Amino acid sequence: MALLSSSPFSSILIILCIFSSIFLTLVTAKVDGGYAQSFDPEELGMKKEKFSHFRFYWHDIVSGSNPTSVTVVHPPSNSSTFGQINMIDNPLTEGPNLTSKLIGKAQGFYGSASQEGIGLIMVMNFAFMEGKYNGSTITVLGRNMIFTKIREMAVIGGTGVLRFARGYAQASTYYANFTTRDAIVEYNCYVVHY
Ligand SMILES: *[C@@H]1O[C@H](CO)[C@@H](O)[C@H](O)[C@H]1NC(C)=O
Ligand SMILES: *[C@@H]1O[C@H](CO)[C@@H](O)[C@H](O)[C@H]1NC(C)=O
Ligand SMILES: *[C@@H]1O[C@H](CO)[C@@H](O)[C@H](O)[C@H]1NC(C)=O
Ligand SMILES: *[C@@H]1O[C@H](CO)[C@@H](O)[C@H](O)[C@H]1NC(C)=O
Repeated sequence: MALLSSSPFSSILIILCIFSSIFLTLVTAKVDGGYAQSFDPEELGMKKEKFSHFRFYWHDIVSGSNPTSVTVVHPPSNSSTFGQINMIDNPLTEGPNLTSKLIGKAQGFYGSASQEGIGLIMVMNFAFMEGKYNGSTITVLGRNMIFTKIREMAVIGGTGVLRFARGYAQASTYYANFTTRDAIVEYNCYVVHY
């Protein structure tokens, strides 16, 4: 009889215990994760990873009255380009001809970072301006030994519809003029993104 009558009391006690532990957990979570919380990626519309291949031509226009690639730091010695830095706002086109469709700009800089041969460090954002990628970017950081047939660089990030982008870019020279120093380079980027 005593056991039966104490039963509703003990179940209330158990319920109270459960509620207070939930409350404590919530409070602790808030304290621990005040500025950082885990979340479900689907909340940000990131459902499935996609794999995309981008192919376009990069125009390094050094000569003429409207260059898109300008030397902002000159090399300390005239006997090599080591130390030179160029800032670029290079057009990206669908085909190799500059008159073909403009799909974006390569904005950033490259520096001559090798004392042997001509090796560049490339730091640039490909800012797309066409179609569903308009307004989105991918970021490339890599080593570019310009006389190698295919140079591979890392795609280290992206924005817009290319968030979480990672992958690689392969560059191969389509045209180079050693008098004007203008060049057209084909880029193939293989990118995983959301
Ligand atoms: C490099 O060449 C230019 C033009 O010939 C000259 O004015 C300059 O002094 C040279 N610089 C060095 C570091 O030798
Ligand atoms: C690019 O296109 C223009 C105009 O269509 C043409 O005159 C020129 O020869 C082309 N250049 C190359 C390298 O194909
Ligand atoms: C790309 O987006 C910009 C800014 O929203 C817009 O002004 C422009 O017309 C767009 N370009 C194309 C080709 O859709
Ligand atoms: C390089 O550019 C110069 C000046 O525009 C031109 O005369 C020459 O034919 C070009 N060379 C090549 C290989 O295209």
